[in-house]
Amino acid sequence: MKITLESSSKKFKETFKKSGELTEQCQGIIPGGFSRRTFFYGPHAVFVERGDGAYIYTADGKKLLDMNNNYNVNILGHNHPNVTKALMEAIPKSYSFGNPNMDLENQLAKILVDRIDSIEKIKFSCSASESCHSAARLARGYTGKTKIAKMEGGYHGFTDTFEISAHPSPDRFPGPAERPIALPDTAGIPQNIIDNLVILKQNDLAACEKVLRENAHDLAAVFLELQSGAGGLVVLDKEFVTGIRAITEELGILLVIDETVTLRAGYGGLQGIYGVKPDITVMGKMIGGGIPIGAIGGSAEVFSVVDNDQVQISGTHHGHPLSMVGGIATMNTLTKEVFAELDKKSSRIINEVNTWAQSKNYPFMMYGGYGACIAYAFTDEPGREIKTHRDYWSYADEEKLQIYALEIATRGFFPVHRGQFSLSVPMTDDEITAFIETTKDIVDGILK
Ligand SMILES: Cc1ncc(COP(=O)(O)O)c(C=O)c1O
Repeated sequence: MKITLESSSKKFKETFKKSGELTEQCQGIIPGGFSRRTFFYGPHAVFVERGDGAYIYTADGKKLLDMNNNYNVNILGHNHPNVTKALMEAIPKSYSFGNPNMDLENQLAKILVDRIDSIEKIKFSCSASESCHSAARLARGYTGKTKIAKMEGGYHGFTDTFEISAHPSPDRFPGPAERPIALPDTAGIPQNIIDNLVILKQNDLAACEKVLRENAHDLAAVFLELQSGAGGLVVLDKEFVTGIRAITEELGILLVIDETVTLRAGYGGLQGIYGVKPDITVMGKMIGGGIPIGAIGGSAEVFSVVDNDQVQISGTHHGHPLSMVGGIATMNTLTKEVFAELDKKSSRIINEVNTWAQSKNYPFMMYGGYGACIAYAFTDEPGREIKTHRDYWSYADEEKLQIYALEIATRGFFPVHRGQFSLSVPMTDDEITAFIETTKDIVDGILK
C-alpha cells in the first residue's frame, strides 16, 4: 500500500496518542511542551518513560529500538550495567562539590589523553556547546585574533558564535557555494558576532584556501566536524582535511576538530582514523556516559594560556562527579573490539540497504556510518553523491524523509527524524535484520 504523509502522520498520532496528549498538556508553561527543541517529531514528540539496553519504552506503552540514542550520546544503549553500577556506587557519597572530587576528573582525562594523540591537556564542562564556546575563547586568547571560521552546515552547539550557517535553507542558500555568507539560524544573534564568522564550503580545498588566506590575519581558528551531524551528514574527504591542516598550520590559524559525535568512530576518535592532529579537540555526548558533559582537549602549548590563567574557563558544574563516573565507566567499556563490532553493524546496514535500493533503481540511499551514525536520504535521482550541505538540501526530498521517519517510528524503530540513525552496542544482529527489512518495506511503500 502506498505510504503518504497523511497516512503516516495518522498512524503516528494513533500509535503515540498519549505522547500527543502530554505534548499538549505540557505546552502551557514550557514553550513547545519540553525543552529539547530537536525532539519535535512531525505532529508531536514521543514521550519516553524509561530505557533499557537498546530500547526505549514510551509513555504510550510502546517498546522502540532506540536508533536516536539522544543524538548519539548512548553508545552503550540505556542502563548499561557498568555505567549504572558506577553511578549507584557514587551517589551515596553525594554529588555536588566545588572541591575536586578525589581524582575522578584526572581519571577520565587520562583515558582521553591516552587514546587521542593530539590531546595533552583537558578541561571539562557540562555540554559540547559550552566546550565549543571555550574552544573559541582559547583559540582567540592564544592567537590574539578574533575571527572564527566554520563550515556551512557544520554544527557546534547553540551559542551565538556558532548557531550560524548550520542549517541554511535550500531556498535561501546565502552567497555563492564557494564563499557562503554567514546566515544566523536563530533571531537574537548580534551583527558583530555574525561579522566575525567566516563560512567555508565543505570538501572544496581550493575555495577554502582562498578564503582562509584572505582572512588569515584575523582568523583565530577553523572549526570542523570530520563527519557532520546536526547540520546534515556530510563526510569530509581525508585529502580535504589534510589540506586544511596544512594551510592552517602555515597561516598560524588553529584547527579545532569537533568530535562531540565522531569520537564514537574509534578508540582514538575519527581524527585517529583520518590521521590528522588538530590543535584543539571538542568532545561531549558519550564521554559522560549519559550524564551532561563537554570537554576541550589540546596540545600543552595551546593550553599554556589556560595553565597561566590568561584564558579562564570555569563553571559551577564543570567536572561534575557523576559525569566523570559515568564517563570513566563508559570509556572503559569501549575497547577497540567494541568499536569494531559497532562499526560492523553500521557497515552491514549501509551495504545491504544500498545494494537493495540500487537493484530497484530507487533514489534512496544510506551513507556516512562513522561512529555508527548513518544518514538516509531520498534524492532526486539514484546514485547521488553528497559532498556538501547544499548538495544534501538540493537533492533530498524532505517530505519523503518525514514520511519514512514517522512510519518507522510506528513500526518499532525510533530514528533521528531529520534523516539519521545512531546505533548502540547492545543491538543484536536480529534487530539489525528486522530494521533492514522494515526499511525496505517502507521505502517500497513510499516509492513504488
Ligand atoms: C558536533 C557537535 N558539536 C556540538 C554540539 C553541542 O552539544 P551539546 O548539545 O551537548 O551542547 C553538538 C550537539 O549535537 C554536536 O553534534
